[in-house]
Amino acid sequence: MSDGAAAHASELVAVAAERRWAWIVGAIIAVIVVMMVITGLHWASMPPSRVETVDAKTLHLRGEFVESNLGTTLAPDGKVTVRVVAQQYSFVPQCLVVPEGMPVTFRATATDVIHGFVVGTTNANTMVVPGFVATFTTTFPKAGEHLMPCHEYCGTGHEAMWAHVQVLPRDEFLARARSGERLSCVAR
Ligand code: CUA
Repeated sequence: MSDGAAAHASELVAVAAERRWAWIVGAIIAVIVVMMVITGLHWASMPPSRVETVDAKTLHLRGEFVESNLGTTLAPDGKVTVRVVAQQYSFVPQCLVVPEGMPVTFRATATDVIHGFVVGTTNANTMVVPGFVATFTTTFPKAGEHLMPCHEYCGTGHEAMWAHVQVLPRDEFLARARSGERLSCVAR
């Protein structure tokens, strides 16, 4: 084989390898672009937490967010859930009870317009959008009292819209929660 033919053969090998890698890289890029498009479309019109819908028109009549089911519950497996409804211009319940140092899952929705809340200076913070259930789980490390203001402008009464959050020492919370009812610290 002459030098020229050998050079030609190795060039063909190089070209074939380059073409193979070009296809592989092209396929990887295509997969990434398809993933971006699908996730982008899927999440485009959704609120910032998980997507779970609820009928805002019948909230007060049936289902999870009827008034008697709002507040804090302790499940037999130890899970703490707080259910809250936001409306112009208050939260129901007005005063929430949560335990110190235990994971607490919030489930919130709105009856009318977009609201939001943040619990004091903690990271418990979400928008509350009518038709959707906002959920997040957080742990309050210290017992104490927090204000929970609405932080999305929702109308003329926005600045007067807030609730209170009492973080109780774990034992005190468990003693109160054992009764199985919906806990809150609203004065009766
Ligand atoms: Cu509700 Cu601002």
